[in-house]
Parts: sequence; structure tokens; C-alpha cells
Amino acid sequence: MEFVEVREGLARILVPKAERIYDAPVFYNPVMKLNRDISTLAVRVLGVKSVIDALSATGVRGIRYALETQAEEVWLNDINEDAFRLIVENVKRNTKTEPELTGRMAEFRGARKITVTNDDANRVMANNFRHFEFVDLDPFGSPMEFLDTALRSVRRRGVLAVTATDTGVLCGAYKHACRRKYLAEPVRGELCHEAGLRILVGAVVRYAAKYDLGVDVLLAYYRDHYFRAFLRLKSGAKKADDTLRRLGYMWQEENGKFEYNEDFLPRRPGAYGPLWLGPLKDQEFVGALLTAAENSHLGDPRKTPEFLRLLAEELDVPFFHDTHALARRNGLQVGKLTRIIEELRNMGYRATRTHFSPTALKTDAPFEDVMDALRELQ
Ligand SMILES: C[S@@+](CC[C@H](N)C(=O)[O-])C[C@H]1O[C@@H](n2cnc3c(N)ncnc32)[C@H](O)[C@@H]1O
Repeated sequence: MEFVEVREGLARILVPKAERIYDAPVFYNPVMKLNRDISTLAVRVLGVKSVIDALSATGVRGIRYALETQAEEVWLNDINEDAFRLIVENVKRNTKTEPELTGRMAEFRGARKITVTNDDANRVMANNFRHFEFVDLDPFGSPMEFLDTALRSVRRRGVLAVTATDTGVLCGAYKHACRRKYLAEPVRGELCHEAGLRILVGAVVRYAAKYDLGVDVLLAYYRDHYFRAFLRLKSGAKKADDTLRRLGYMWQEENGKFEYNEDFLPRRPGAYGPLWLGPLKDQEFVGALLTAAENSHLGDPRKTPEFLRLLAEELDVPFFHDTHALARRNGLQVGKLTRIIEELRNMGYRATRTHFSPTALKTDAPFEDVMDALRELQ
């Protein structure tokens, strides 16, 4: 294997040289710098002491947790043997320490304890029951096959971070796959990304509920064709019941109008879901991430703070109005987004841009008033 050195945050890591990232024997995706930036900031602002990056590839994520946060114990794992060897090499370079090697495990006992294993993620997590304050699942595709063990490996008041890159499935391009993996009916069209994110969070909520665990969403977002959620667990049957109450269904009409209902069962046909209909962010947490981002050595210093600012400013209500889709659906001209937002604010409503789409807005105005604002600006 030939390698090149890349810098990301405080880490300097070797990654395989390859024409295309999916051809590389060990996976490294520079587009995910923003994902790793936000995750590293999250581990930092939450004051996490123990963390597992269960699917590590080059190890960049776990190494950044070790270098850029206060975590005292960091566990990295990958089933692929090439990945394991590369992670060990990358940890050595970044910590200037030598590991104790036993079979398919390497333990570094420097300023912090770093463990690297070459095993199935489910086995590693199962062997570490209720151990980690922060469990990170960053797989290829869907995280669902790792979810049960992750919920058993994380502490009962810990944080679970999940990435899903199976956007086609969650956005309704493969409806049957969405039913199989997430037991949910996906939405197609302009709302598919927010609906996909809400299906993902809803699935985690249902899995957590069987362990009598409730969930608070610290932050859930969509970006660069993946979904990411940071979920704080809460221990107790009542907390699980309260969380489950925030699941529900949505409906959408031809003209683009949507409705949703926080109800355990769909009340009428044509329903999409179940979906998480609670908040997608904890404002204080996002504010803390933003402050930390402004004082950090980031992997993507241009995009990460800007994205966090957009998230911080976004109105947190279910679903949005995409001006292009509404214009198309209703035979109107597309107006300027900022002017429509202004118009809605003048009408006394709250309205903001949304990270889900550059042509959409979130508002507490009813659909009819959004349409009035659109028509007003024809
Ligand atoms: C998307 S990559 C991880 C990227 C990494 N988290 C990052 O931020 O750069 C997914 C990794 O999961 C590994 N993997 C796949 N199935 C696994 C399993 N059952 N147990 C452990 N690792 C697995 C693959 O070898 C691959 O390296």
C-alpha cells in the first residue's frame, strides 16, 4: 500500500493513496471533515471522558478525540485488518507512544488510554456493557445493524452519535429497504431529507425505548448526502414513554401543503412515518459547539463554523417550505428567498432559512399565508 500524509484538526494521519476514495483499501473521506469537526467539538463540550469510535477506518476520528478533547479513554476498532494496522500506525505517530500488542488488540498507555481492536463492532461493544459515555457509529450506509449493541454499550445517561449515509433509502428512492431497515414509510420529493432524518431519529427512539431509555436530541442534521444525530439518553420507563409520544406521521398534498400529527398510530391513509416530530437541536448545545468552533483548530475551518451558525439560527419546527417546489407545484414564479422570509416576518410570523435546502424556509406561518407571501412577491 502507498500512503500520503494528511492533516486534519490536530491529527496528522497516513491514508492510502487512491484515485477514488471508494477504491482505497482503507477508507478516508475528506468531505467528512465537517462531520468529524462537529463530533470532536461535541465530545469536548459534553466533557466526555470515555468514547468508542466503533468503525474507525484510518482512525482519524478517534485520534482527533484523543488529541482535541479531554477524553481519558478512547477506543478505536475496525473489522478490516489493513485498517487495524493503519490505525495502530496512526496512533503511534500522533501520540509518540508504543503499544502493548496482544493478538488483535493494541493498548497505548500514554497521557490517555487508547485501545485499538480488530474485531466486529458488535462484539467489541457487547463486551463493554454500559461502559462508554459516548458511542460513535460512523459506518458505510445504515447504522441499524449496530444500534442494539451501541445502546447496550453506552451508559444509561450517555450520548449516542450516529451517521447514516444510506440517503437513498431514507429519502424514499428504495421504499422497501426503508421499511426493512427503519420500519417506516419514507417521503419522496422536497421534504425527503428532513423526513429521512426524522425517520432515523425515530428508529433510534424506538430501539432505545425497549431498554427503558428516553432520548433528547442534542443535534440532528443533514449534510453532503449523509445524516448525523447526537442523542442524549435518559434512563427510565417514563422517560422512554414521554419520548415515544413525540413520534408521529406526516401527510403531504399535491400543492405542497403538509400536516403532521404526534400520534402513535396513523389516523388516516397516505401517512409517512413513523417520524420523530420533536426538536432537532438543543439550542444551548449548538451555541456551545459554535463558540468552541470559533476557538479551535478545525479540519474544515471554512465550512464548519458557517454551518453551525446556520443551524443555530434555524427555526426548529417540523418541515419547511421549499420555494422552488411550491412555485412548481402551484404554477408560480420563484421569488427571492430572503424577500419571502422578510414578508412573513412583516406578517408577524417567525421565519428563517434552513440547512436542509438553500431554496427553503422554516416558519410558524400556516401554509395559506406562506402561499400569500409567495404570491405577493410575484
Ligand atoms: C465509513 S468507514 C469509517 C470512517 C471513519 N469513522 C472516519 O470518520 O473516517 C466504515 C468502516 O467500518 C468498517 N466495518 C464494516 N463493518 C464492520 C464491522 N462489522 N465491525 C467493525 N468495523 C466494520 C469498514 O472496514 C470501514 O473501515
